[in-house]
Amino acid sequence: GDPRLEAISAAIRVVPDFPKKGIMFQDITTLLLDHKAFKHTVDIFVDRYKDMQISVVAGVEARGFMFGPSIALAIGAKFVPLRKPGKLPGKVISESYELEYGHDCLEMHVDAVEPRERVIIIDDLAATGGTLSAAISLMESQGAEVVECACVIGLPEVKGQHKLKGKPLYVLVEPSGLDKF
Ligand code: PRP
Ligand code: MG
Repeated sequence: GDPRLEAISAAIRVVPDFPKKGIMFQDITTLLLDHKAFKHTVDIFVDRYKDMQISVVAGVEARGFMFGPSIALAIGAKFVPLRKPGKLPGKVISESYELEYGHDCLEMHVDAVEPRERVIIIDDLAATGGTLSAAISLMESQGAEVVECACVIGLPEVKGQHKLKGKPLYVLVEPSGLDKF
């Protein structure tokens, strides 16, 4: 396959039992430290989306902020932050989503997108897909069209995709280190 994907995979640090026992945490901060692997990551997304008339790259707080703006600048799109509750000062729309225990919420400024704009949603990792689904709902509530969701890492459990409201999910790598447990 693409040797760039192997470099990306190798640059992601797997931390056992973080933030709690039994979780194999996929740490993309080490990918950000590796200039070549970081650039490969952005380049692959840019090559995929540059000719798809995308006008909005939406990034999910916090780790989606680490990849989204670089992609937006390179493809000539605007960057829209989807934030945790209470952080955005303007008029917002909110969307709750389920976590393993409890729930969380994402917010977006209502004036950040126009109806019919073509959007890609960026995050570091898709696990259950709950976060991406909330992001899709925010965009669709404003009449924007989500073309695709894109993540650096995709866990096998998200493959069903029915949680992503029928939207395609593009992932670069599957997690390494799962074989250790
Ligand atoms: C993590 C990760 C994704 C999400 C994936 O974010 O960065 O956004 O979980 O999980 P899901 O597919 O099951 O929804 P987290 O909420 O831990 O916060 P952070 O990005 O602010 O660190
Ligand atoms: Mg996150």
